[in-house]
Amino acid sequence: ELSPIDKAKFVAAKRAADFVEDGMRVGLGTGSTAAWLVRCLGEMVREEGLKFRGVPTSTRTAELAREVGIEVVSLDEAKWLDITIDGADEFDANLNLIKGGGGALLQEKIVATASDQMVVIADAGKEVETLGAFPLPVEVIPFGWQTTQALIEETLVSMDVLGRSATLRMNGDAPFVTDEGNYILDLHLNRIGNARQLALVLNQMPGVVENGLFIDICDIVVVGYGDGRVELRD
Ligand code: A5P
Repeated sequence: ELSPIDKAKFVAAKRAADFVEDGMRVGLGTGSTAAWLVRCLGEMVREEGLKFRGVPTSTRTAELAREVGIEVVSLDEAKWLDITIDGADEFDANLNLIKGGGGALLQEKIVATASDQMVVIADAGKEVETLGAFPLPVEVIPFGWQTTQALIEETLVSMDVLGRSATLRMNGDAPFVTDEGNYILDLHLNRIGNARQLALVLNQMPGVVENGLFIDICDIVVVGYGDGRVELRD
């Protein structure tokens, strides 16, 4: 028996799995909601003979996809994708997102941007009026990361957006390392007034690789509720 939150994630994933058709090239997201999707798709491959190729957005998702019987290819093999289905940490009424809570934002953004359509699957608790209560993940190069952190903090304080600070994401006693060998700074902002501008400013900084704001990338959000209801936002 699933908890209400898992039920919400599951029903959203299950509904989104119906978007996948034979012959498609499909971006597979990362996180607990995306894991439900990968399991649903694996079941459709095994039991309904669905045929598609999946491009995973993390080593974790690649492992799970192979385990459940999905044909896995790299983004460069697929070149372009029909659809990407992924979770999110927050979404707003314009379908702009914060992603990267699972640390896979860089590959997720590359894959989503290389897709005709991006579908987000999320439990209703992720819907916000203004993005930013969830700390914004920023992927940075390990070289000089503290200098990059200081630059981010100074810039954001001067823009009047930084609530508290930019903290290095840890994995026990060591820095958390992304699939691409980088670090993540989590920006505690509370509310992001101008997400578009913030995304541009962050990506202008030399040590920053990418940020977790997904602006104008998502086309549809499939929202799941704990009672099993599903709503589509587009
Ligand atoms: C992974 O890097 C994130 O972008 C995930 O999509 C996000 O953290 C959602 O994860 P859950 O589905 O586990 O909430």
